Amino acid sequence: MTEWIWLNGQVMPLDQARVGIEDRGFQFADGVYEVLRVYNGRCFAMAEHMDRLERSAGGIEMASLPIARTILAREITALVDRSGLADAMVYLQLTRGQAERAHAFPRCDPTLLFYVRQLPPPPIVGDGAPARLVSVRDERWQRCWIKSIALLPNILAKNKALASGADEAILIDGQSVGEGSASNILFVIRGNLVTAPVGPKVLPGITRAVLLGIASELGIPVQERPITQTEAMNADEIFITSTTREITHVTKWDGQAVGGGICGPITRRLHEALQCRIGRECPAKRIRNTATAVA
Ligand code: PDD
Repeated sequence: MTEWIWLNGQVMPLDQARVGIEDRGFQFADGVYEVLRVYNGRCFAMAEHMDRLERSAGGIEMASLPIARTILAREITALVDRSGLADAMVYLQLTRGQAERAHAFPRCDPTLLFYVRQLPPPPIVGDGAPARLVSVRDERWQRCWIKSIALLPNILAKNKALASGADEAILIDGQSVGEGSASNILFVIRGNLVTAPVGPKVLPGITRAVLLGIASELGIPVQERPITQTEAMNADEIFITSTTREITHVTKWDGQAVGGGICGPITRRLHEALQCRIGRECPAKRIRNTATAVA
């Protein structure tokens, strides 16, 4: 199956796309990215992803996106349609572009690309395997709200987790729990949904934001506040979130049993409501009956 990419306005098979050696994304990690989820052939939370992309680009002092966001959203939708995929992800990357290597910002055109890749739908609520976490000291910079392609600390943390038989690393800044290497982390504590505030050490995850909105609608009190590791590990329910995984409940952390060892009732309720929202925003496309259409 051909995977398609849009690269600076040209659509081509992914394996034919080329970016220069001196692209600043390659040499300096001078760029930002987005990962969007496709359900039923439609992008979920497109506007939220476009908002964050604009904020990330501003965060690395790119004055504007290379194309207007409405056109970008249309082009992404067209590429998803072309892929013919129902369950997929879109990886989008924006770098400052290609120029002779120098630290100073060059005068050059940005490199913008996105491609679509098949991704199986997540498991039914509560059915998925739980996540096991390990704590890793957060050694990243203070601008984690930018979705930067400079992911080396995240990659090292993730691989430390995998090497110790866990699934995800939780980045700890001093005493405070921040986020996962590629996820946000949320807690249910005495009926409240608690999570660290976004900002220097926490990416404004789209799944996180959607869930906080859903929780408020369901009357579940939301607290965005610093949370110590001790309080976090004693939470009634623990789950991690991301565009690609939706929600995964957590049952082990640094080798200890946590979260009651199950997918808790509030986690389930939130995940069910998230899947309803996805269903509303990304309904199945009606299969056109060509015989009737021709008649
Ligand atoms: N990452 N925090 C970090 C550091 C992340 O990398 C991600 C997601 C999240 C969750 O954000 P969202 O709900 O918008 O996906 C939080 C993506 C999926 C990735 O790098 O592949």
